[in-house]
Amino acid sequence: MCLVLQLVGCGSDPDPGPVETEKAPPPEVTIVKGAPSDPVMPVEATTFGTKGYVVALDGLGSMPVVGTTVEASTVMGDELAAMEIWGEGPTLTGRVNAIVRRAGNVLVAADSGVFHTLDDKLVLSPASDTLSALDIQSMHVTSGVANEVIWIVAADALYELKSGKLLKWSIEGATPAAITALLATGDAVYIGFGAQLYILDTKAQKATIIDYDFGAINEIISGPGGVLHIATSQGLFERKAEGVYTQYTMADGEAVAEVDDIAFDAKQGTFIVTSTGISLATGDAAPVGMATLGEQKAPRLMAFDDIGNLWVGEDQTVYRLPLGSKIGFAEDVRPILEKHCMACHADPPTIQGENAPAVNFLDYDTATEYGASTVLRISTGQMPPAGKADPVPPAEFEIVKRWQEGGQAP
Ligand code: HEC
Repeated sequence: MCLVLQLVGCGSDPDPGPVETEKAPPPEVTIVKGAPSDPVMPVEATTFGTKGYVVALDGLGSMPVVGTTVEASTVMGDELAAMEIWGEGPTLTGRVNAIVRRAGNVLVAADSGVFHTLDDKLVLSPASDTLSALDIQSMHVTSGVANEVIWIVAADALYELKSGKLLKWSIEGATPAAITALLATGDAVYIGFGAQLYILDTKAQKATIIDYDFGAINEIISGPGGVLHIATSQGLFERKAEGVYTQYTMADGEAVAEVDDIAFDAKQGTFIVTSTGISLATGDAAPVGMATLGEQKAPRLMAFDDIGNLWVGEDQTVYRLPLGSKIGFAEDVRPILEKHCMACHADPPTIQGENAPAVNFLDYDTATEYGASTVLRISTGQMPPAGKADPVPPAEFEIVKRWQEGGQAP
C-alpha cells in the first residue's frame, strides 16, 4: 500500500508473510530489591487540569502534547488549552488514541483523523484517511531524519510505515490487539504482549519469544549503550545488550511495585513512574527518588520535552516537573563536536590525508552557521566518514539535534 506521508521510494515489496516464532531459553535475571530512596532534593510539580482523561502524551519543544478522551491540548502560558487546527478540514474532536514524537513534529492519531503538529497547532495529515482506517492503538518511531520508520499497532495487525510504504506484519501466536508495548531499534523490534516479550528480527523475518514471565509489560525504551528498560507490573527490568536482565523490584522486602511508564532523556537519564512517584534509574542499585505525586488515580504516563522537563499525565491531571534546562553550546554541544569532528576539521588536522575543509566547530558562531548541515550529516551517517572515525553515539547526536532544533543556545 502506498501513502503520501513521505513521497519517496514507494516500492512493491510484498508484505512479510506470517512470521515464525521460536522460543529462547529463560534469561538470567539478577534481582535488585528496594524501594526508591525518599527524594533528597524534591522536585516540585506544577499541575494542570485536563478536559477528559489523559490517554496519550509526548513532548515537543518546551511543551507537552496531551491526548485525552475529548481533545489534544498543550500548555499555553499558564494553562492547558485545546490545540488549534491549521486550515480547513476536520477538527480534532473525540478521543486521541496515540501520540508519537518524530524528528520534526508530533503525530497525533485521534478518532477524527491523523494530525501532525506545526509549531503549536495541528495540521491534518495527507495520509489521514488511510491511517485512520487502521484503527490505530499506538505508534512508535525509530528516529532518524532520513530513514524514519513508524510502527503502528492497529486493531488487526502490526504495520511498518517506511518510505511512504505500509507493510503489514503478522507474528505466529501473537494477537496484535494484545500488544501492550513496542520498541523498534534498527532491525530488532521488541514487543510486549502482556507478560511476554517477543523480539522480531525484521531482516530475518523471525520472532523470538523469551521464555519468562515479566508481568504485564507497560513500556519498553532504549537508553545509552544498547540497554533496554522494560516497565512492568513486576517492577523495572533492565536488559543489557547481551540479553542479561536485572529486575528492580521498586519496593521493600519481598514486595514488587508496578512501573507504569519510563522515559529517557539524553541529559537527565532514565526516569521511572510508579504509584508513589518518580525516581531515577541508577544502574545496579535501587532507583533514587525525585518527586512524590500524591495518591494515584489511574496509570501514569510520562514524557520528556526537548529541554528536559518531565511531563506526567494521570486521570484528569498533567504534572510538569521542571528538571530541564536549555541545551547550551558551551556546556553540552561543544565537547561532542570536539571529540568527534575536530580530528579532521581542525587547522591543522590530526588525521592527515582526509582533505577535510578546516571548520572550527569549537567556535559558537561557526558551529551555529553549520548547525543544520551538522545534524543532517551526522544523521545520514556521512560524518564522521564511515570507517575513518567512530560514529557519534545516538544519545550525543540527540543532544546536538535538540540544540539545533531548540534554537542554538550559546
Ligand atoms: C575522518 C575525518 C572526518 C571527521 C572525523 C569528520 N569529518 Fe566532516 N568532513 C570530512 C571530509 C573529508 C569532508 C569533505 C568531503 C565532504 O564534504 O563530504 C568533510 C566535510 C564536512 C562538512 C562540509 C564542510 C563544508 O564547508 O562544505 C561538514 C559540515 C562536516 N564535514 C561536518 C562534520 C561533523 C559535524 C563532524 C563530527 C561529527 C565531522 N564532520 C567529522 C572528514 C571528516
